[in-house]
Amino acid sequence: MEITNIIPRKVLDSRGRWTLELDLVSKKNKYTASVPAGKSRGKYEAKQYDIEKTLRFFPEFKKQLVGKTYSSQDELDDFLIRISGDKKQNYGVDLSLATSIAYSRSKKVKPRGLPTPMFNVINGGLHAGGDLKIQEFMVVPHKLDSYSEKLNAGVSIYHHLREKLEEKYGKSAVNVGDEGGFAPPIKETHDVLELLEIVIGELGLLEKVSISLDCAASSYFEGGKYLIDNKKFSPAEYVDYLSNLASSFHVFSVEDPLEETDFNGFAQFLKGSHSKVVGDDLTVTNVSRLEKAYEHKSINALLVKPNQIGTITETLKAIDYCKKVGWTWIISHRSGETIDSFIADFASGTASPFIKAGAPARGERTAKYNQLLRLEGLL
Ligand code: PGA
Ligand code: ZN
Repeated sequence: MEITNIIPRKVLDSRGRWTLELDLVSKKNKYTASVPAGKSRGKYEAKQYDIEKTLRFFPEFKKQLVGKTYSSQDELDDFLIRISGDKKQNYGVDLSLATSIAYSRSKKVKPRGLPTPMFNVINGGLHAGGDLKIQEFMVVPHKLDSYSEKLNAGVSIYHHLREKLEEKYGKSAVNVGDEGGFAPPIKETHDVLELLEIVIGELGLLEKVSISLDCAASSYFEGGKYLIDNKKFSPAEYVDYLSNLASSFHVFSVEDPLEETDFNGFAQFLKGSHSKVVGDDLTVTNVSRLEKAYEHKSINALLVKPNQIGTITETLKAIDYCKKVGWTWIISHRSGETIDSFIADFASGTASPFIKAGAPARGERTAKYNQLLRLEGLL
């Protein structure tokens, strides 16, 4: 494909913040992509600039790409990495990722599978205004058969949970956070886990659905201590506390249980864990950090976010690394999303086992879950 033009525009994301959308134009076609933004961003993620800066960089970025022919995703992405820098510091991650995604739309990719969705039903941490420190409480229907059954289970749980919350805590308890999960005035992690198991149990789904957590623990790590559930823990005490909590419930996975630099702390947690331990801020979809996590035995699962690294090719390398070392992986959205459903196609095209795209509600989240329904129809 020869790129004849690139047209950028600023569009709003789900938080009402400006983000980048662009059209990649060839002689015959036009391919569009927009990019998301995280709030609990990992310190080691690729560089993201605000939209004004991104648009200031754009003319120089465009000049280097237009008028050239790229015969494969690899070739384009290699060039994007070369001009943007490893950390995408020269032009920012949004320009390289939007270009990379738009280009991928010029090739037909076959759906190859359907990931199990992880539905975020309770929002805490930086994604909500309450007291809960754990950022995401998810339900994972991993033991149901088809994608549509899994989606149905997620929807039933979401609505039953809404009723329970309203009954117990009043109307304002069902206001939602950034990812569409409820943000109730519950103070302690334990109480949420207990309520979720009640809700899942009342629907007769306890054998089929587990709970997953994203702690995003960097957000409550202060002065060498973990501040959670009205307690202040040393890292060693905290590992015990969290392990006990997780093992008292059907917890399928725990993401970022410790702060983002503590490879050894993750390893301590993993050693005693029955749940999968997922790296997100720790690993930032970057193979050099994956290698470090592997050496330290920090995790056995990876959160894969294309915008932490900035091109499709690098994202695929992170997935290949998981396959090589036997980790499972989860394709992930960000808390600030657009209606671009690329990650749904990507999860299917890479036969990824899991996807997390927020609650089964709000347009920017359901865009992904609905796209997977369409792909299920094709398969
Ligand atoms: P973010 O959160 O998109 O706000 O970074 C998502 C996550 O931590 O998984
Ligand atoms: Zn996370």
